[in-house]
Amino acid sequence: MIRTNNIAFSYTEYEKTEEVNKNDMELVIAAREIACNAYAPYSKFRVGAAVRLGSGVIVRGANIENAAFPSGICAERSALSNSISNHHEDKPIAIAIAAMTENGFTDDSPSPCGSCRQVIAEEELRIGTKIRIILSGKNKTLIIESISDLLPLQFNRKNLKINLP
Ligand code: THU
Repeated sequence: MIRTNNIAFSYTEYEKTEEVNKNDMELVIAAREIACNAYAPYSKFRVGAAVRLGSGVIVRGANIENAAFPSGICAERSALSNSISNHHEDKPIAIAIAAMTENGFTDDSPSPCGSCRQVIAEEELRIGTKIRIILSGKNKTLIIESISDLLPLQFNRKNLKINLP
């Protein structure tokens, strides 16, 4: 039997970032601030990510490039490496991402790369709860409730037939 399936998801779109709620705006500002600390001499595309933990603490990360290009790391993974290493039991509840070119913060919402989606998906499974994703551009901000929406049919521990506690 052949079946055609559809995958759809809902997300919220804001024309102005300032329309998001106060907590989310604080997270976006943290992402924008840390983007300024990116080390991106090659792409000149500076990205910041801010993770809000259950305790309220905000952990930040920026992209860090390398002359050996694959050795660079994206902002999202930089922030999550920080939060998982330093706040192991404090579960992320949201991550905001902002990006800038040499002309300033992008008008359009940024989009996490495939590797970062994969890492956020692993983190959702590790903590057992969803992580809201706030993709913030100057003229367009998207809020997505879970990485599963951005990474459907994902490869994860279930494919490995591994059951973790
Ligand atoms: N980058 C991020 O930091 N996050 C993403 O999700 C997309 C890409 C960085 C990697 C590289 O330093 C630069 O943006 C250009 O690709």
